[in-house]
Amino acid sequence: MLRIALPTGRVAMQAEAFLTKAGYAPSEPLSQTRKLTVRSECGRVEYLLVKPVDAPLYIEQGVADCGVVGKDVLMEAGADLLEPLDLGFSRCRMVVAGRPELERRMDNLLSPVRVASKFPRVAQHHFAKKGVPCTVFKLSGSVEIGAVLGLSHYIVDIVETGTTLRENGLVVLEEIADCSARLAVNRAAWYARLEEVRALVEQLRTAVGD
Ligand code: PRP
Repeated sequence: MLRIALPTGRVAMQAEAFLTKAGYAPSEPLSQTRKLTVRSECGRVEYLLVKPVDAPLYIEQGVADCGVVGKDVLMEAGADLLEPLDLGFSRCRMVVAGRPELERRMDNLLSPVRVASKFPRVAQHHFAKKGVPCTVFKLSGSVEIGAVLGLSHYIVDIVETGTTLRENGLVVLEEIADCSARLAVNRAAWYARLEEVRALVEQLRTAVGD
């Protein structure tokens, strides 16, 4: 039986609907259980319910063979995982955002620029690539406040509908990456449990195409 890490929270509902469509319906509704492991009705997989940010570590260490993980979380974790499939849901963009007047001043800010983010590793890497020295403040949510109230010049965050930025007077200044839910796979499991993992990937691939 394959163990699949499933994120609680933001992508959980979509992940459950997608896995059900692919023939791996959980044996009980995930939103209504406090259990941390739940088997699928078909008996071929067991779901491990984890905080999204922890999923890459569980998969990298082999506690889970694979998992459904947002590309944003994978980028931040930098874990050594295989990523064979874009599952096509939970689409969003990783962006640099800030107050509109910063658009004109991007290269003229006093150094180092201040950046607030739930994704400090991605933020550091992005500004380093541009050759812009930065100080990154790691926040865990409501990151927009950082830019609105002056903690930071910029935020690096995900944008889905754009509503949160708009309602707080912020704009997208740069695009970093397109993000969506991915199937991430432990390296050893990919080789040691080839048949099982390939069968799962094929079935999920069909569901993506439907
Ligand atoms: C994310 C992100 C933005 C918001 C963007 O936060 O950090 O705040 O969603 O979505 P939108 O473009 O559709 O408005 P999330 O909902 O995950 O909550 P958090 O701020 O508590 O992390």
